Amino acid sequence: MNRSSRIFPTPIELAEAFALDLVNLIKKAEQKQSPVMVALSGGNTPKLLFSVLADKYTKSVNWSFIHFFWGDERCVPSDDPESNYGMTSSLLLNKIIIPENNIHRIRGEDDPEKEALRYSEEIMNNTRSCYELPLFDLIILGLGDDGHTASIFPENMGLMDSGRVCEVAVHPVSGQKRVTITGKVINNADAITFLVTGHTKAHIVEDIFKNRKTAAYFPAFHINSSHGKVLWLLDKNAGEFVH
Ligand code: 6PG
Repeated sequence: MNRSSRIFPTPIELAEAFALDLVNLIKKAEQKQSPVMVALSGGNTPKLLFSVLADKYTKSVNWSFIHFFWGDERCVPSDDPESNYGMTSSLLLNKIIIPENNIHRIRGEDDPEKEALRYSEEIMNNTRSCYELPLFDLIILGLGDDGHTASIFPENMGLMDSGRVCEVAVHPVSGQKRVTITGKVINNADAITFLVTGHTKAHIVEDIFKNRKTAAYFPAFHINSSHGKVLWLLDKNAGEFVH
């Protein structure tokens, strides 16, 4: 298991450190003249990251060397407060100069099943592939209070082994439909980084890092890149029990 962690005193220090890592990844891509393919997480945790990128790096980065995808999206229109794309646009995308073709959003407003198929093709057509699966340079993930990641929930662990690139998922509490990339695609990435903050995640993080039996119930436990590395960036609260 190639899981490692870095613990930061506060969420803002975590966001600033990872923003710099991301900027350096884009600068390396520019040197190689080959854009990086990055899948973003949704929810609240990445908001600080996007704000730091927009505050500090709008002008000093050549954003044409990164393509943004999403690991999952809520099946809502992009102007809905729930939209991961909408949130990313307002905090970051609307503040940087980036070619439209570099933004690969999931169309939450469309029929979920059709969109899962369409987005699978969009990913396949725009990324390298390895073992016939799309290969992302980096996938950024969050951790839910129930151990889910992307929109792979414990109630639908089968999505970890799906043969499809994207599937339709249903939030177990709200019933909200989601389009999500699947476990094999995530584990095929060159690099996977979890961004996790807050006390509510601390016990799940502990179970995962101590390989406890209970951790097998969490989809996030089963994220281990087949040929890359899995880095967990934690603030002090989320990493309270990880040494
Ligand atoms: C989403 C996510 C989801 C998220 C976790 C953590 O669309 O909600 O991609 O996997 O990362 O639920 O969410 P918070 O960052 O809000 O705790």
